[in-house]
Amino acid sequence: MSDKIESRLQETRRFSPSKKFSDSAKIKNVDDYKALYKQSIEDPEAFWREQTRDLVFRAPFTKFSEWTLPHAKFFVGAKLNLTESCLDRHLTTDVRNRAAIIWEGEPGETRTLTYFELHREVVRLSAALTDHGVKAGDRIAIYMGMVPEAVVAMLACARLGATHSVVFGGFSSEALRDRINDCQAKVLITQDGAWRRGNVVPLKKLADAAVAHTPSIERVVVFSRMGNDACPVTMTEGRDIWWSDLLSHPASEASLKNARSPEAFDAEHPLFILYTSGSTGKPKGVLHSTAGYLAGAHVTAKYIFDLKPTDLYWCTADIGWVTGHSYIVYGPLSNGASCLLYEGAPNAPDPGRFWKIIERHGVTVLYTAPTAIRAFIRWGNEWPAKYDLSSLRLLGSVGEPINPEAWMWYRNIIGQERCPIVDTWWQTETGAVMLTTMPGAHATKPGSTGLPFFGVDIDVVKDRGESCGANEGGKLIIRKPWPSMARTLYGDDARFHEAYWSQMPGVYFTGDGARRDEDGYFWVVGRIDDVLNVAGHRIGTAEIESALVSHPAVAEAAAVGKPDELKGQALVVFVTLKGGIKGDDAMKKSLGEHIDKEIGKFARPDQVRFADALPKTRSGKIMRRLLRDVAAGVAETRGDTSTLEDLSVLATLRGDEE
Ligand code: PRX
Repeated sequence: MSDKIESRLQETRRFSPSKKFSDSAKIKNVDDYKALYKQSIEDPEAFWREQTRDLVFRAPFTKFSEWTLPHAKFFVGAKLNLTESCLDRHLTTDVRNRAAIIWEGEPGETRTLTYFELHREVVRLSAALTDHGVKAGDRIAIYMGMVPEAVVAMLACARLGATHSVVFGGFSSEALRDRINDCQAKVLITQDGAWRRGNVVPLKKLADAAVAHTPSIERVVVFSRMGNDACPVTMTEGRDIWWSDLLSHPASEASLKNARSPEAFDAEHPLFILYTSGSTGKPKGVLHSTAGYLAGAHVTAKYIFDLKPTDLYWCTADIGWVTGHSYIVYGPLSNGASCLLYEGAPNAPDPGRFWKIIERHGVTVLYTAPTAIRAFIRWGNEWPAKYDLSSLRLLGSVGEPINPEAWMWYRNIIGQERCPIVDTWWQTETGAVMLTTMPGAHATKPGSTGLPFFGVDIDVVKDRGESCGANEGGKLIIRKPWPSMARTLYGDDARFHEAYWSQMPGVYFTGDGARRDEDGYFWVVGRIDDVLNVAGHRIGTAEIESALVSHPAVAEAAAVGKPDELKGQALVVFVTLKGGIKGDDAMKKSLGEHIDKEIGKFARPDQVRFADALPKTRSGKIMRRLLRDVAAGVAETRGDTSTLEDLSVLATLRGDEE
């Protein structure tokens, strides 16, 4: 069988959980899943009331939901401080002294924070931030690596009711600047530097370049991860303050009191903004609310990872992406889980690092991405073979479609044929997993993301909205609002409506294509809009294009994806240079560096191709479909080219292949 994603069309293998796994699972069989799913759809109020009983609400909801397209409200009238569900509630149970976070730095040192300690740190930071003028409703940007303090910072914001905007540490200064300016953040929390594959990422230095152009920032809080020798930084008097100095002054009585007994906020209070790529050059500030988001993250984490007091759960995502928000922070902590947090790269110092971590700490649940799995395959089986992986009991995958061969490798080599795999489909906008299997109940099919999670009314439809038949490809849509869905795009309600709710009236359009098989299992193909998924990173083609045309030599640019064995999709850009400028290797390098600077290294094109002209329709639109074919090396261009302005453009592009 080929290792291409299309091989999923012929996939017939099935794997059921062992009796031992099912017997101790929260959802033990298909009937239990069906009964709860039925209740979640027919009586969502009863379902969510029961399932959120263990969360802390200071005032109960008076109405379960309200829906005025495109705005949903859930748990209407409820009051809560979300951090009480993640921290305080555990302090009176035997979770109190359990590890909330077991952290391992890339150089190998470890730290453990119990729930008691995490709570203490969050209280201290939130009191200190209050003393520095942070109030509920303020926006706080967080630009950090994978250190426990990033979790503390997020929770301290949530405790105060300040809306956090975490910006992935791989983003450039320019990208950070734009995100801060868009939400007018008042404070930036960062760190001196972070380890990445043996190198220091100078986060504070990058932040300094951003903050030089962000008038809203009043304070920059700097956590010292590296120390001055490894990563010297410049502190700007009056603006910058070390995290340790911030906490070394006793907070005022009033702020401490407030941090210990925090305010309860409205269910719809904005919890966080997370910027993600869409089909225009400007990233979208996806805004999530408090109660609905917490409910979604909590209930999905509980059932899908089947969390138990004996588990050590490891989600390898970065805190700067939504997976880090929902499944490193809010979902696991609200369940009292013990979470592993790892700072660095999977191949530092060698490709055995993940497996070494699993052996060292006894990780039981591993949640990672197909792109990582494909890299592990390439690095060779000898690496996992060196380590004892017998502690693992459950595996998860997220972020992009997984090809059956990678899935089988994950099952056989990492799971040693013992661990169920949950392939979870969801998005920044959905807040929580929407499609998955229940690990103790369902048979899995390599490459399928399984069935709808509770409360999720999801379908595959044709252009006009009618449901597709079994195995018929179409658009993946969600018919009804759900508690953890995004509430809007920060400052751009019209775009929220337009991007998600206008393709088919009243229905949420995911941007993904999918099919559903005869058993009701979903097979997600990937994006069908102008968004790429490169090595699990979501990148808008328009973002790349607008970055490229800001280079002084570029007249026009088009970015497309091409299938890639390792990354899922690779980024190919077609560039027309301004008159007289030569498209050579030096120019390719310069364009690559320009993308590093404008967006971040992770968005650097895999291939730059120069063209005298780009194929366009008569009305002037770039014909991306044709460029995708050219990039993929499809010899004969498929489909209709009758609207193409100049067919010779296409011939030249094809001839120009490298
Ligand atoms: O195309 C789908 C893909 O990732 C997109 C969402 O990207 P983002 O908002 O960055 O969130 C990623 C982590 C949740 C989706 O539209 N995607 C995510 N998970 C899967 C997936 N595609 C196939 N299978 C998945 N399990």
